Amino acid sequence: MEVIIQETYEAVSRQAALVVAETLNDKPDAVLGLATGSTPLGLYKELIRMHREEGLDFSQVTTFNLDEYVGLPKEHEQSYHHFMHENLFTHINVPQQNIHIPSGTTNNYRSFCTWYERRIEECGGIDLQVLGIGSDGHVAFNEPGSSLGSRTRIKTLAKQTIDDNARFFGSAEEVPIYSITMGVGTILEARRIILLANGANKAEAVAAAIEGPVTSMCTASALQMHRDTLFFLDQEASRDLKMVEYYRWIQDKMPTAP
Ligand code: PGA
Repeated sequence: MEVIIQETYEAVSRQAALVVAETLNDKPDAVLGLATGSTPLGLYKELIRMHREEGLDFSQVTTFNLDEYVGLPKEHEQSYHHFMHENLFTHINVPQQNIHIPSGTTNNYRSFCTWYERRIEECGGIDLQVLGIGSDGHVAFNEPGSSLGSRTRIKTLAKQTIDDNARFFGSAEEVPIYSITMGVGTILEARRIILLANGANKAEAVAAAIEGPVTSMCTASALQMHRDTLFFLDQEASRDLKMVEYYRWIQDKMPTAP
């Protein structure tokens, strides 16, 4: 686990984009796990810039998104299908047939979830998974109490998540109650994970994830069991970490490590 603290959100986004670029340089046909929400917007902007100005190539990339709202058709402004196309896919050269996003409108969720898991496997597994974190410590829509071994499934959203996401919908009543989400177990199988967090409203969840006990009450804490996770945090999101000086010290000393 590596904790990388940056001065600003822009620096967090830039650092995360460099990890994505490094992954694609090493493996042009990498499988990327992608997240939605406010947090990765800066990362996606930077990837679009790198694609346009530096030729970062997505032509062989395959993507899997973490989650989707149940009941929202693809065209709905708040669907994660819409979000991903608007904020990333229409601006880069990832082939349409390589894009996977859970369906919010399938008539058989159980078999869709099984297919999604199988499809990830068929594509060779996720090389790099991008994550945000909820103010309740969730990763994807794995709300407190989710099994740390969970797989892609339907999940009922927590009240806190509905309230957090009401800002996108206009009111909490309009936020869907159910989601389809990769499980914690699915996420932990990614070869490398980057979790991005910014802002003071994430500080408590970030501290619980990195320094708290591993518990289903904060599903991001399961990342402590993962062998290659990088946390990119801005100052405010790192505010409640007890070991913050040590993480900075590591960052300083890492370049000269044997
Ligand atoms: P946010 O959501 O990026 O919009 O804060 C993060 C999450 O819920 O995982």
